[in-house]
Amino acid sequence: MTRAEPDAATRVGAVWAQDRRGVIGVDGTIPWDVPEDRAHFASTTRGHGVVMGRSTWDSLPPRWRPLPGRRCVVLTRDPSWSAPGAVTASALGVAVAAAAEPGEGADGEVWVIGGAQVYARALAENALDVVVVTEVDLDVDAPPPGEEQDDDGDRRAPRALAPHLDPTAWTAVRREPEVGWATSRTGLRYRITWYERS
Ligand SMILES: NC(=O)c1ccc[n+]([C@@H]2O[C@H](COP(=O)([O-])OP(=O)(O)OC[C@H]3O[C@@H](n4cnc5c(N)ncnc54)[C@H](OP(=O)(O)O)[C@@H]3O)[C@@H](O)[C@H]2O)c1
Repeated sequence: MTRAEPDAATRVGAVWAQDRRGVIGVDGTIPWDVPEDRAHFASTTRGHGVVMGRSTWDSLPPRWRPLPGRRCVVLTRDPSWSAPGAVTASALGVAVAAAAEPGEGADGEVWVIGGAQVYARALAENALDVVVVTEVDLDVDAPPPGEEQDDDGDRRAPRALAPHLDPTAWTAVRREPEVGWATSRTGLRYRITWYERS
């Protein structure tokens, strides 16, 4: 194994949360509050290497950079970029290999944690063994009740979108709850699905 290519035995997952239409971010943030999903994200990724794009690193609150208990590898094409607590990489394979190297905050398991560009790249490169998706029962683009639809799409804040999961390539192997939705203490409904390669 070289540093540029992850070991074939490395298990690589992706984890994200999306609204009903696949929005994962608006203007550099996640536009909902589901603390139970943040706990799920923490328990899924803690103790493992994580790979993220530079924009997702920038979107984390400063007190969560680096994410505690996880080796944080940040993808960037800017060779001059650095941040305390971040390992940098300029290509996905290099990032996954760096995140997989056993050591502090890493045990060989790797989670790709966003954002849209990096999820898309990981799927395109067939780098993922498992995908874990939280659906939040919300349409972030729906107008508030009683208001007209804002049709000036060009001036909207930029949306980050989840990648398309090909249903012939990915099979849902577990769902929580098995039927229906869970309700967050903030009132939003959500459910989590684990997918593996078909
Ligand atoms: N809902 C969720 O679960 C979730 C999870 C994570 C993020 N998000 C949201 O997603 C949004 C950010 O996503 P995004 O798509 O805009 O950005 P991103 O994927 O986080 O980061 C994009 C940046 O990563 C670097 N990059 C991407 N692909 C690369 C490659 N193949 N090689 C080298 N570097 C690469 C580039 O950095 P440089 O410009 O430095 O070269 C690029 O500008 C935010 O709104 C965030 O809140 C949501």
